[in-house]
Amino acid sequence: MTALPVHRAARRLRLRGVTEADLGALALLDRETFPEEPYPYFVLRQMYDVYPDHLLVLDDGAALKGYVLVGTAPDKSRSWILGLGITRDERGRGHGRRLMLEVLDLLRGIGVREVHLTVAPTNTAAILLYETLGFTAEQSVRKDYFGPGADRRLMRLRL
Ligand SMILES: CC(C)(COP(=O)(O)OP(=O)(O)OC[C@H]1O[C@@H](n2cnc3c(N)ncnc32)[C@H](O)[C@@H]1OP(=O)(O)O)[C@@H](O)C(=O)NCCC(=O)NCCS
Repeated sequence: MTALPVHRAARRLRLRGVTEADLGALALLDRETFPEEPYPYFVLRQMYDVYPDHLLVLDDGAALKGYVLVGTAPDKSRSWILGLGITRDERGRGHGRRLMLEVLDLLRGIGVREVHLTVAPTNTAAILLYETLGFTAEQSVRKDYFGPGADRRLMRLRL
């Protein structure tokens, strides 16, 4: 029998909480996903310090393939999705949806009622993903939301 090539898709990606040891790999993954505006390492480090339970990663056993970062208000009334990314080689296989569904479940479980996020108005793939999860957008795009030229669409989901 001919051995089948080991296809990446065949490897199971384990969804788990981030650990301190992941931070270097998480920074590389964030840089790959957002090459023009990655989080500085120290910001990721501090997100981990503040929200250690709300950072999820997809791990193929050798590398991180996706992540979602969430910040939650101290009274747990609302959360913000602060980052979501899947490596290029794993996109279009349902991993982004899986990460979002998992984190939304987690937030629902601790009593969060509203989830907010920002997305670049040109990011059709992300906007479609968020819409199919029930997020709705403010009517107008916020100009310069993240500084000059960095317009963003704000979206919200009631849990
Ligand atoms: C946005 C992103 C996280 C989606 O992850 P993914 O694993 O590729 O998405 P999924 O396979 O789970 O697809 C979920 C839904 O997203 C939408 N979608 C994903 N890729 C798409 C594409 N290329 N074109 C249009 N819609 C797309 C679809 O609605 C899809 O649902 P469907 O498969 O039922 O049609 C991924 O493309 C990514 O990492 N992009 C770069 C970083 C980024 O833009 N992050 C979001 C910032 S707000």
